[in-house]
Amino acid sequence: MTIRKSTLAALGASFILGLATALPAHAEAVTDTSKWEKEFEASIKRGEPLYHGGVKVDSNGVACDQCHPEGTNIHPETYPKFQKQLGKVSQLWEMINWCIENPLEGKALAADSQDMVDIIAYLTYIRKGYKLDPGKY
Ligand code: HEC
Repeated sequence: MTIRKSTLAALGASFILGLATALPAHAEAVTDTSKWEKEFEASIKRGEPLYHGGVKVDSNGVACDQCHPEGTNIHPETYPKFQKQLGKVSQLWEMINWCIENPLEGKALAADSQDMVDIIAYLTYIRKGYKLDPGKY
C-alpha cells in the first residue's frame, strides 16, 4: 500500500490541530499537583500501621517491623530481582506475600488490593532517594 503525500499532510495537520486543542486542558490539569500528593500521602498513611501493626489478614499477628525494623532489609528499589525464596525473578509484592504467608502465617494479598498498594507506598516512600538498582542481590 502506498500512502499519498497529501494523506500524510492531512494526518500531520490534524495531529498538530489535535495537540493545539488538547494541550491547554492537559497542561491545566497537571499544574495542580495537590491531588497527587494528597492521594499518595493518604496511601502511605494507610500503609504505615499495616507495616508496624501487623497486616490485617488472618496472620499470627507478627508485625513486619519485628523483622524489618525501620524498613531495614526491604530494598524495594532492587525489584524486580531474583529471589531465592521464590526461585525466580520477582516483583516486590510477591516477596511481601512470601512474608505474609511464611513468617506471618497469613493469607496472601491480591497484588492490586488496597492493603498491598498501601504497604508498597509506605515501603517505597521510606526508601525515597535510594537509587533504582533492579536485580541487585
Ligand atoms: C519473622 C520475620 C519476618 C517478618 C515478620 C516479615 N519478614 Fe520480610 N523477610 C524475612 C526474611 C527471612 C526475608 C528473606 C531474607 C531477605 O531476602 O532479606 C524477608 C524478606 C523480605 C523482603 C525482601 C527483601 C529484599 O531485600 O529483597 C521484603 C520486601 C519483605 N520481607 C517485606 C516484609 C513485609 C512487608 C512484612 C510484613 C507484612 C514482612 N516482610 C514480615 C523475615 C520477615
